[in-house]
Amino acid sequence: MSTQNISTIIVTGGAGYIGSHTIIELLQQTSYNIVSIDNFSNSNKDTFDRIKAITGKNIVNYNVDICHLEALEKTISQIENPIGIIHFAAFKSVPQSVAEPLLYYHNNLGSLINILKICQKFHISHFIFSSSCSVYGNVEKLPVTEQTPFSNAESPYAQTKQMGEEIVTNFAKSQSGFNSVLLRYFNPVGAHPSGLNGEYPRSKPDNLVPYITQTAIGILQKLTVFGGDYDTRDGSCIRDYIHVSDIADAHVKALNYLIDHKQKKSTSIFNLGTGNGVSVLEAVHSFEKVTQQKLNYEVGPRRAGDVINIYANNDLVKKELNWDPKYDLDEMMLSAWKWQLNLANEKNS
Ligand code: UD1
Repeated sequence: MSTQNISTIIVTGGAGYIGSHTIIELLQQTSYNIVSIDNFSNSNKDTFDRIKAITGKNIVNYNVDICHLEALEKTISQIENPIGIIHFAAFKSVPQSVAEPLLYYHNNLGSLINILKICQKFHISHFIFSSSCSVYGNVEKLPVTEQTPFSNAESPYAQTKQMGEEIVTNFAKSQSGFNSVLLRYFNPVGAHPSGLNGEYPRSKPDNLVPYITQTAIGILQKLTVFGGDYDTRDGSCIRDYIHVSDIADAHVKALNYLIDHKQKKSTSIFNLGTGNGVSVLEAVHSFEKVTQQKLNYEVGPRRAGDVINIYANNDLVKKELNWDPKYDLDEMMLSAWKWQLNLANEKNS
């Protein structure tokens, strides 16, 4: 059987939280051949079984460290007709990046440069970069639009995303026929509505929602709300939480946008948020309400590297990509809980 005409989309970090949800949407919404490159440095091999349980499809994964260019080139040369790369693979903990900045500069920027070298060498024309609302820093005017200028990065993690955006933008300008989208995620949370796939931290989570669900189920003792004295409506930080399946859906739309050459520039930038600012305490209360669980939490000191208040203006992405987030905060919390219960059942069976 000839597979000559099948186009392949490469997903780096395909076993990760957003990568795996995006693979599910790609498999369900497109007919591309999808392959993953993931060295499981912060993810689990059984994610591919979860993808199969949801979609019925097997994914080929290459266990390669993207920071190793030679190994990466060898891998890509084995892939049939690659036309696009969605680059998720990166470290993403704000506090860890404050403690270990070199790890973040090396891993997040080294891997990005290598993957762009791959695009050049193998003539791969379409590229999507996982960026973050952390590029904006602490801004004066909310909500942020894609035109809001960057303030100082509050953490090395955020700085790798600011620099990453510039690297992609400059590379795209230099290459004819290459086009790219930078997606600035606000706070992706929740799990696949089936409860069969979700965020799977390998060690103690840094992010709020897995910390909440692990506390509620008894793995962790108590949630600390980092800071109750910020200049916000209840003193805790404000974020724009967005369901991971909505984020995944935006990648499919961004990919089609690139492949159909709908954009006029070599790089387009979109905010991926709901547009709603939610405080940490409001997120906790939503979780308590929809799950009927009383959460053990206390308000504690501020966390280094935190932005105080940020949420998105998402007009541009709605218009250009025809994307509209489907899930509200309660659904985000409920799906995260369903996933946590599912994991606990698996462990007990
Ligand atoms: C940051 C980025 C986001 C990125 C994410 C990746 C910003 C504004 N956002 O998210 O774009 O996708 O990193 O990890 O920098 N919190 C607690 N207690 C906890 C954990 C968290 O109170 O135990 C609070 C934090 O202080 C913060 C909120 O919950 O106010 C969300 O934190 P987290 O889930 O870690 O994400 P961000 O750091 O906002």
